[in-house]
Amino acid sequence: MQTIIAVMHDGIDETQIRRAGDILKEGGLVAFPTETVYGLGGNALDAQASAKIYAAKGRPSDNPLIVHIADWDAIYKIASEIPPEAKKLADAFWPGPLTMILKKSDAVPMATTGGLDTVAIRMPSNEVARALIRAGGGYVAAPSANTSGRPSPTCAAHVAQDLGGKIEMIIDGGNANIGLESTIVDLTEGKPTILRPGYINQEMLEQVLDEVEMDRGLISPDSNVHPKAPGMKYRHYAPKADLIIVEGEAARVREKINELVTENLAAGKKAGVIGTDESLLYYKEGDVRSIGSRKEEITIAQHLYSILRDFDESDISVIYSESFETPKIGQAIMNRLIKAAGHQIIKV
Ligand code: TXA
Ligand code: MG
Repeated sequence: MQTIIAVMHDGIDETQIRRAGDILKEGGLVAFPTETVYGLGGNALDAQASAKIYAAKGRPSDNPLIVHIADWDAIYKIASEIPPEAKKLADAFWPGPLTMILKKSDAVPMATTGGLDTVAIRMPSNEVARALIRAGGGYVAAPSANTSGRPSPTCAAHVAQDLGGKIEMIIDGGNANIGLESTIVDLTEGKPTILRPGYINQEMLEQVLDEVEMDRGLISPDSNVHPKAPGMKYRHYAPKADLIIVEGEAARVREKINELVTENLAAGKKAGVIGTDESLLYYKEGDVRSIGSRKEEITIAQHLYSILRDFDESDISVIYSESFETPKIGQAIMNRLIKAAGHQIIKV
């Protein structure tokens, strides 16, 4: 298949959006930019389109898709119960990087929800995304537009690497603003619960709803406690090289990483380092890269997935990363980084 690339760096191209909408209505797939990561879109109400999404990504079919909408009223068709909390969260954070889990209606096929009777719903703030959703009939199922097991794509080139030739169209809308997937909040059982941390953090949610819990599966050190979002149980991304996080006081972390890189070099192994703009000059050896600036934590989120993709292109055997316990989006950054590292953490 020839994948059409439609470039929209300066906003919406109506002709191309109409073409993309037609592809979705005919059951085809279009990758598109959102403020979090790129999505691989198909008509959420069409079981066959959902099946194509799973096939293109190589994704396990028990891992449900998020349904993207462009207008609040669209929710009534796909959710069978809409608690007052949903409206409150929508008023505060939609359009934006928040996904809510609600009870699904019969309009949503089980193929879209991975067999669950609940549905994940999100209204993205990216305008190209919302124009596409409207043009495509109003309901776009979209997981991140990567091959299952690879880092989520934060630019159109990442999408093309994984899905070029497998889908009808990629809309190139430039780099994602946030770089990490949306926060997921479950509103179907008891207290509102965060199933996946993201840019919208617990504190922000608690300003709107009094109490919001964190899924025990995310924070429990007990490996028998499973996360509630089916996708969170998978080790999202295993870089080709071993990834190890070094955690502790900044100067000691740098010292330890330098020591480990030297040891590897002595053993004939090349090592990579994930540092920051502030720490780069302290590293003397190895393939050292900056993930962003600690003074602007969003830059760290924006570059996490691309730095992991880039390291896969080089012949290093191990990557040492600093740890990022920054107060806001830091929890989401560490959630993704720890998964990529397969929980390998050295504390100094
Ligand atoms: O930012 C995002 O949310 C991006 C962009 C494209 O919007 N999408 C995204 O989709 O991250 P995906 O498929 O990569 O991740 C969806 C997550 C998975 O962990 C899945 O298990 C969970 O949402 N999920 C979906 N429906 C669910 C449901 N009904 N109950 C619990 N978890 C659900
Ligand atoms: Mg994903």
